[in-house]
Amino acid sequence: MERYIVNGGYELRGDVEISGMKNAALPIVVASILTGEKCTIENLPAISDVKKSLDILEAMGAEITYLDKNCVTIDSKNVKGGISPYELVSKMRGSTYLIGAELARFKKAKVGWPGGCDFGVRPIDQHIKGFEALGAKVTVDTESGYIYADAENGLHGNSVFFDVVSVGATINVMIAAVLAKGKTVIENAAREPHIVDLANFFNTCGAKITGAGTNIIKITGVEKLHGCTYAIIPDMIEAGTFMAAVSATGGKICVKNVIPKHMESVSAKLEEMGMAIEELDDSIIIEKVKPLKKINIKTLPYPGFPTDMHPQLTAVLCCAEGESTVSEGVWENRFRYVEELQKMGADITVSGVSAKINGVPSLNGATVKAVDLRAGAAMIIAGLAAKGTTEITNIISIERGYDDIVGKLRSLGADIQKLD
Ligand code: UD1
Repeated sequence: MERYIVNGGYELRGDVEISGMKNAALPIVVASILTGEKCTIENLPAISDVKKSLDILEAMGAEITYLDKNCVTIDSKNVKGGISPYELVSKMRGSTYLIGAELARFKKAKVGWPGGCDFGVRPIDQHIKGFEALGAKVTVDTESGYIYADAENGLHGNSVFFDVVSVGATINVMIAAVLAKGKTVIENAAREPHIVDLANFFNTCGAKITGAGTNIIKITGVEKLHGCTYAIIPDMIEAGTFMAAVSATGGKICVKNVIPKHMESVSAKLEEMGMAIEELDDSIIIEKVKPLKKINIKTLPYPGFPTDMHPQLTAVLCCAEGESTVSEGVWENRFRYVEELQKMGADITVSGVSAKINGVPSLNGATVKAVDLRAGAAMIIAGLAAKGTTEITNIISIERGYDDIVGKLRSLGADIQKLD
């Protein structure tokens, strides 16, 4: 079984280039099929979830041409709906976006129940509420595991008020609404940078979307979209992961190809712990200048502290002085990785959706499992900071979302390798 072997105790030093954002790439790749033309997507992260998305589109009839490892052309002229392969769709969350995309292009959809990281229940009621507001009838067939949607008379713009702030539902309703007749107003929309990136992609294709990045998004449906060339924004979670890693190991790194504004909540917390951070135009220099101290974190939708940075920060806090608290404000069950950190000597007590972390003088290498994507990143960070050797299993979870994390860490001086 493939695994990472990490020998801890080395400071990180040097420059690291951040890849395109996974959670922007997934919806944009799927949304490209609304054009029925060629879209060239640049700065695509070379990760397995993007590869799976492209494989799904290929199975649906798209012609995929890799121009290099981070750039593809998707020609969706011959795409057909209702035939996405269940075994791929059920392995990732981003496949939910096929429902909105098939509805928009074919007026009906048939998509398998999506997979992705297990953070407890991951409902799609708000996606369905949005599709129904636009005139679709949605059925979830629990026996076959398929979601069916039908908009016989086409989709019509409407107002959609979400009960919870959901990234996925906001994206899916945007995808469904761009070609709908009339105007859609999404209220209580998510404000993540990837929502803005999707809107920018669509507008480059001829859509009329305003307000992305605020909690009210207005979409005036257009008759047709055209192909385009578009570059994905940098991955703020990948950038945050490297910033967390150097906080745990010590050293100084320059995180390049980032949008510092997207990093504000993470940078603020790392500064509060004692890290020295300098923001440049499209890079961040971060240095450990003194011992880390305790902090409290609560995860929230953007612009709050991202839930997808929570496990990595918990790993860092294991090495900070005093008792820190991490409260999870988005997912009901995101602390499954704590047991793995405890194998390395971490002093963490979980109670409901909060954890108390008492810093320890040092973590010790152990064999641990990457229970999900960001939890896997936390294991790497803990391993880099620990005494001795850490073996990380189930790395398939990590490679779903990190582009060459081993190569990038090695170039910063880490002792990490992948073993088959
Ligand atoms: C996306 C990200 C994931 C990240 C999350 C929150 C992708 C592929 N995944 O997941 O990495 O952790 O945003 O930033 O982009 N909810 C409902 N009903 C719904 C939808 C969501 O109640 O129909 C709830 C969820 O249970 C959760 C909260 O809303 O408590 C946020 O979920 P959401 O923002 O939708 O997350 P995803 O889009 O699935």
